[in-house]
Amino acid sequence: MSFSLRKQVALVTGATDGLGKKIAIALAQAGADVIVHGRDVQKVTQTCQEVQKLAPEVSVTELVCDLTQPAAIETQFATIKKLDILVNNAGVWLEGNTIDGNPEKILEVLGVNLTAPVLITRLLLPVLKHAEFSQIVNVSSIAGVEIPSGFFHTVYSASKFGIQAFSEALAKEFDNSNVRVMGYYPGGMETQLFVKAGHTYKQHEPWMFDPQESVDAIMFMLTRSPKVVVKRMDLINHQQG
Ligand SMILES: NC(=O)c1ccc[n+]([C@@H]2O[C@H](COP(=O)([O-])OP(=O)(O)OC[C@H]3O[C@@H](n4cnc5c(N)ncnc54)[C@H](OP(=O)(O)O)[C@@H]3O)[C@@H](O)[C@H]2O)c1
Repeated sequence: MSFSLRKQVALVTGATDGLGKKIAIALAQAGADVIVHGRDVQKVTQTCQEVQKLAPEVSVTELVCDLTQPAAIETQFATIKKLDILVNNAGVWLEGNTIDGNPEKILEVLGVNLTAPVLITRLLLPVLKHAEFSQIVNVSSIAGVEIPSGFFHTVYSASKFGIQAFSEALAKEFDNSNVRVMGYYPGGMETQLFVKAGHTYKQHEPWMFDPQESVDAIMFMLTRSPKVVVKRMDLINHQQG
């Protein structure tokens, strides 16, 4: 039996681009009211309009907050009074030799990828606990599960291993409750994540896959019967072509 997302209220962080935007669209098309979060007010408004056009019957709400700013997280996310689904998706990429890391960039990666989802989750847990049944999906990465050779991203991996630890510990904390906590661990996806970090990767590197695969995986996780849980899902390329 699958679980209907109709009339559920869902928040997707980092919903203005890439995977998050596609998840917001899929949730709205499944009948959920969606809160679209992003850091850029124009991108948030534009994304809301796109989501609304594709799912005219649901409510689509804007939430603007720069996730590098803990004080702003506390005020902006506290405006949410009803929530059934939290997708902690926002993230930034950093690679290269550790010695070359810019301290400001390191703090941004740890802030957006790890501190922010912890703060947002903590803040919204009372609201999620209040729902009849609620769900949290933490988007980590396969880089938060395995350390590849010859490809250095110590800080990004640290942030993603961190969110894995938070997610799995939180799942234990809320075991046998009305809050279901799940972790999603994708390999490389065809998004602008790397370009935004200043790299010249092509849109289709052999190690990347279509983010729609991740949307389908996350929607599968969210629509399982409340009695069961897909505790974690790792999605990686089986063929590098
Ligand atoms: N792409 C991959 O290969 C890959 C693989 C494994 C895991 N992931 C993870 O998947 C998630 C989604 O990434 P993506 O590939 O879809 O990248 P993306 O297209 O760049 O999307 C990232 C989202 O996070 C937002 N964001 C970044 N910094 C922010 C900040 N300071 N405050 C608020 N929002 C911020 C971005 O806003 P803007 O639109 O303003 O940039 C965007 O909406 C991330 O957690 C990433 O680590 C990605």
